[in-house]
Amino acid sequence: VVVSNRGPISFAVDDSGALTTRRGGGGLVSTFGSALYGTGAMWFAGALSDADRLAAAKGAVDAEGYRVELLALDPDLYRGYYDVICNGTLWFVHHGLWDVPRRPRFDRHWWPAWDDYESVNRAFAERVAADAPDDAVVLVHDYHLCLVAGHLRDARPDLTVVHFHHTPFAGPDAMRLLPDRVGRRLLEGLAAHDACGFHDPRWRSAFQASCEAADVTAPTTFVAPAAVDVNSIEAVARSNDCAGALARLEAEVGDRMLIVRVDRMELSKNILRGFLAFDELLELHPDVRGRVVFGAFVYPSREGLAEYQAYRLEIENLVARVNARWATSDWTPILFEPDDDFPRSIAALRRYDVLLVNPVRDGLNLVAKEGAIINERDGVLALSRESGVAGELGGLALGVHPFDVSGTAEVLHRALTMSPADRVAHAAALRAASTARAPIDWFNDQLEAAERR
Ligand code: G6P
Repeated sequence: VVVSNRGPISFAVDDSGALTTRRGGGGLVSTFGSALYGTGAMWFAGALSDADRLAAAKGAVDAEGYRVELLALDPDLYRGYYDVICNGTLWFVHHGLWDVPRRPRFDRHWWPAWDDYESVNRAFAERVAADAPDDAVVLVHDYHLCLVAGHLRDARPDLTVVHFHHTPFAGPDAMRLLPDRVGRRLLEGLAAHDACGFHDPRWRSAFQASCEAADVTAPTTFVAPAAVDVNSIEAVARSNDCAGALARLEAEVGDRMLIVRVDRMELSKNILRGFLAFDELLELHPDVRGRVVFGAFVYPSREGLAEYQAYRLEIENLVARVNARWATSDWTPILFEPDDDFPRSIAALRRYDVLLVNPVRDGLNLVAKEGAIINERDGVLALSRESGVAGELGGLALGVHPFDVSGTAEVLHRALTMSPADRVAHAAALRAASTARAPIDWFNDQLEAAERR
């Protein structure tokens, strides 16, 4: 049994009013890859749209190789849980994103949302308790659902419940930003699992340290970095959509070098400092002016949050400023592509000379691995030491200190000027490290954690 906020399929209503399904947009379904596909596993998820809610009323559906049960929750309740607590509070605390003179504010508007979080977690637990097969292993995913296991403990002691946290984890100092009873409730909720997993040893240590500081007995923990489903990404790379996008990109870039980033327009991804570093690169290294394009394939995310709307505006203004400063009649330095177009993102990953992955903090970052696997030009990876994937690729990539804009500019210059022979060796090592694990390994790590119960 898998339990997550975003499920493997989403529904739409077609012109004739009939419900149609498509594979969900979330990263989790691609992370499970073929490991879970067709196993008959049950997947419980939230109904995220009106069409999802219509589908939820029809009960469980078999689609895309899973038996999916969507929970229809009151939209206002869901908004408090998802926008205010999951995205506006837990995401911020685990990624260290708060601008503390202003945020967080736990006020009369926030507390009802915390009650919504409790209610949604309870609703998920009640549904799992009612429908999960006897003695099932239940894999609960991410910060949305920290309190599910606590409820299941009482209702269904036959179940083995494993949690996997896809984000970094806040250490004790960051956890202290949360109201005491909330921090404790989250840690106790996680401790109610038979095991808790993380992508990187740093996030596991932070979780353990936070438990210790709060005097909560930590559960068994494990570290299991997720992997790329190579077959599925290669299929996209071979598709006509990807070929068309690559041809259009080639036409724009020509024989110039290409720096690429592929990200959600997300505060933790550090998009502004990436452009500031590019600006500094152009200022300090006249040799690369006119010879390099920065392709930013960044698609909108969580637009319901004011912080994300403001961030997008800031990004757009900065792109305009850098382009206005350096563009010539035949060269636009930053190619800004703000739509969600997966085949085009894959085309960019095939074509890059340098891939910039510079998050301020990131649970893992699969783009770094995807790029290493499908890039066709022995491209160089410039990787933030604060990404979870630095545990696997950090020793091979050029390291980026995400707050050091000048340092990032220098890393970009080193990457652009690396010798062809060094590029070949660099790319081969990254490709090997990025394919060392498959989705099935990640899945089995979770099952093994369950078996150690
Ligand atoms: C990213 C994170 C996951 C998180 C997901 C939620 O992929 O790495 O930890 O679960 O975002 O995204 P959503 O769009 O569903 O809020």
